[in-house]
Amino acid sequence: MKVVAVFGSPRDKGNSSTLVREVLRGAADAGHAVVVYRIDRMNVRGCQGCGFCRANNADCKIDDDLKAYWKDLHECGALVVGSPNYYAQVAGPMVTYMNRHYCLTDKNGNNRLRPGIKLIGVFSQGNSNPEAYRAQYDWYLGTFQKHGMILTDRIVSAGEAPLRPDSDLMRRAYRAGKSL
Ligand SMILES: Cc1cc2nc3c(=O)[nH]c(=O)nc-3n(C[C@H](O)[C@H](O)[C@H](O)COP(=O)(O)O)c2cc1C
Repeated sequence: MKVVAVFGSPRDKGNSSTLVREVLRGAADAGHAVVVYRIDRMNVRGCQGCGFCRANNADCKIDDDLKAYWKDLHECGALVVGSPNYYAQVAGPMVTYMNRHYCLTDKNGNNRLRPGIKLIGVFSQGNSNPEAYRAQYDWYLGTFQKHGMILTDRIVSAGEAPLRPDSDLMRRAYRAGKSL
């Protein structure tokens, strides 16, 4: 199956990127095809609130770097979203990206996305308490879950130390990808 991954950190060697890569390594070992989007390197506009999507039961019409994403999303069996925590919330560009999923609801309020897509959330924060931002991460993932996605793991890197390759969290990330 196709696995779509969205990297939210500008830091390629940061903890969220490291963990998302490890999820993808597991997914590739399980035989899945991986498609990667790196939000920090993309031109992604905010939702324009134009209503086109809901009036036409269509994916977002904005002509930017998310254009190819909608087809990948409809085709995929799993979505992996990774983000740093900036100012006690998922980083801004990842919220902008998330807002664009408004187009997945039709004019009657029904979900346009095939239900059952697996979802893995990966978050990285300086705060050493992994529970400190649970409400914020749940809120973020909830948007995807409202579109029928099934959360299979939610991985939080807590603290500024770079992750060791042999750490429990890295093993968990690999397993999360391998078991997709
Ligand atoms: C602009 C900015 C704001 C931040 N705000 C918070 C915060 O509110 N709480 C927190 O725990 N860490 C905060 N951090 C620390 C990052 O979440 C932490 O360095 C994280 O590991 C970054 O993710 P990355 O390694 O995937 O890039 C902030 C970092 C930056 C650059």
